[in-house]
Amino acid sequence: MENPASEQNSITILIVGDLVGTPGLEAVKEYLPSLIDEYKAGFVVVNAENVYEGKGIRPSDADTIFGAGADVITSGNHVWEKWQTKKVLAEYPNVLRPLNYPPGNAGNGFFVKRLSSNGKIAVLNLQGRTFMPDIDCPFRAVDWAIGKIGSNLPIVVDFHAEATAEKIAMGLYLDGRVSAVVGTHTHVPTADAQILPKGTAYITDLGMTGPYDSVIGMAKEEAIKRFIYRTPFKYQTATEGIRLCGVAVTIELETNKATAIHQIIRPSFSDNTAFAGSVSQNSSV
Ligand SMILES: [Fe+2]
Ligand SMILES: [Fe+2]
Repeated sequence: MENPASEQNSITILIVGDLVGTPGLEAVKEYLPSLIDEYKAGFVVVNAENVYEGKGIRPSDADTIFGAGADVITSGNHVWEKWQTKKVLAEYPNVLRPLNYPPGNAGNGFFVKRLSSNGKIAVLNLQGRTFMPDIDCPFRAVDWAIGKIGSNLPIVVDFHAEATAEKIAMGLYLDGRVSAVVGTHTHVPTADAQILPKGTAYITDLGMTGPYDSVIGMAKEEAIKRFIYRTPFKYQTATEGIRLCGVAVTIELETNKATAIHQIIRPSFSDNTAFAGSVSQNSSV
């Protein structure tokens, strides 16, 4: 779709899907700075729930991702599985965890950033409940959050969920009330990037940013055995077929409605010369 990023009354934002392990970090360092230039992006969101050996995030990971150009980091269910994550959530207000975890957990579920143009933009992180932990209702949580954030600024929602139906329901529930709803968590990019009828950009899943020669980021041999033998085999982060997946969304600032959504997959799945990065060691999960 057309990218009217040069118009002064609009902003183009990049949203990058789940970073998996060191390959995810390598892909962000390799591709994100040039994508920001290419799309003239004024704001960048990166989901990093899997960046520390497949689960969680350390302060050094957050620093690397922000250093590559991210403004806000979002996450999801796996982010809690390393103790270092709670330190990150406590110290970085712009590293988010899903809002609808029960009260008392560390961290923020949304963040409002002032832009250099003097406007503001909000990022909101939610998690689904279908085939996932039975946490608080994401639909009621988002209603509460929009009331707190206000309706006079762009709001970008990362809905971290397993079920496509729940993601589509959330997109339609928020259509016209937020600027973008993007799905994360399944690690497979979907082909349904679109502008919903009332002006919200939507995609069911961004796909992961990490090693695609794998079973959703994990070394394929052990992951396949889990399905065959139905007993535990140790997961390891895969290393090959590294790609960055996400979208570029252009938002008209007068209305906060999306005018374009463009899917990004670098390199494309038809490119057999996928970036190999400098990853040589598997890391266990
Ligand atoms: Fe993930
Ligand atoms: Fe997840």
